[in-house]
Amino acid sequence: MTEEMSFLRYLAAKKPIDDRSLNQHVWRTLTDEITARRKRDGRLRVLEIGAGSGTMIERMLAVGLLTSVDYTAVDLWPEGVDAIPARLAAWANTQGWTITQGGGEIVLTSPDGTGDVHVRTVNSDALSFAANAANHGKYDLLVAHAVLDLFDIREATPSLLRTLHDDGLCYFSVNFDGITAFLPSVNRSLDDQIEQLYHRSMDERITDGKRSGDHRAGRHLLALLQQIGVDVLAAGSSDWVVHSRGGQYPGDEAYFLRHILHFVESTLTGHPELDAASFYQWLQTRHAQIDRGELIYIAHQIDVLGRK
Ligand SMILES: C[S@@+](CC[C@H](N)C(=O)[O-])C[C@H]1O[C@@H](n2cnc3c(N)ncnc32)[C@H](O)[C@@H]1O
Repeated sequence: MTEEMSFLRYLAAKKPIDDRSLNQHVWRTLTDEITARRKRDGRLRVLEIGAGSGTMIERMLAVGLLTSVDYTAVDLWPEGVDAIPARLAAWANTQGWTITQGGGEIVLTSPDGTGDVHVRTVNSDALSFAANAANHGKYDLLVAHAVLDLFDIREATPSLLRTLHDDGLCYFSVNFDGITAFLPSVNRSLDDQIEQLYHRSMDERITDGKRSGDHRAGRHLLALLQQIGVDVLAAGSSDWVVHSRGGQYPGDEAYFLRHILHFVESTLTGHPELDAASFYQWLQTRHAQIDRGELIYIAHQIDVLGRK
């Protein structure tokens, strides 16, 4: 792999894949709930943790989900939160919205004046943010997209839910759930070994001395929410299925695939149970499959909408 890898570019390439993968039953239920709450409560307060470069804010703006909203976007990655204003400005400029920045806020106003969205970006660890009593019981909607599977769900979920008031909503989307597939097969036993070791690495991952994530996070999250008394309003799968059309990948999806291989490479290089030469050859073959538009990638994921 010679190309410089950029996580920002990966997130931008991932956005259209997420757009088509998000579970539509869960998304419609979220839309119905937000519409009803907007009529009842007026202005809504949304907290997103692990917001990255702001792809979910853009998605929600684009479908009219955010009208009168105060949106707080938290991420511990400074380059991510720093990229949010430019992403929102690019979107606003194509849609005729005005955008202003000042006083620590980005303010977006729709052409007809009905859309009035204030975005505050916070460079912080989500759990520290949620532990701050000033943030308890404050939000109508908590969003975590493609991020909860990086946490110890049992420990993190109840802490994050404290930011919601009773009756607040949680929308947890694209939670990895135990299936990774690269097709066509290179060598069935090596494919299976790489998948198993990659999944095991998620179960064994330690961040700041704590367990962080597991390879069946989606189903464990769903079961946990029920156990801790969250009313699960909707759940369903949001699998990524990436393939070429006429030998070409749409958008920047070839880059997305190379980045997925980069995650596998950086996680498993040097693994004592993996033959280094075979793994190197496996990666070369997978990159060559991308060059020819042959590689198909599938990841199983689960979306959940709950009410506290
Ligand atoms: C896979 S990215 C998803 C970003 C964004 N939600 C998207 O899909 O475009 C995961 C994000 O979670 C952030 N993250 C991971 N652990 C975090 C933590 N403890 N607190 C806040 N953000 C965290 C990372 O910095 C990264 O931006």
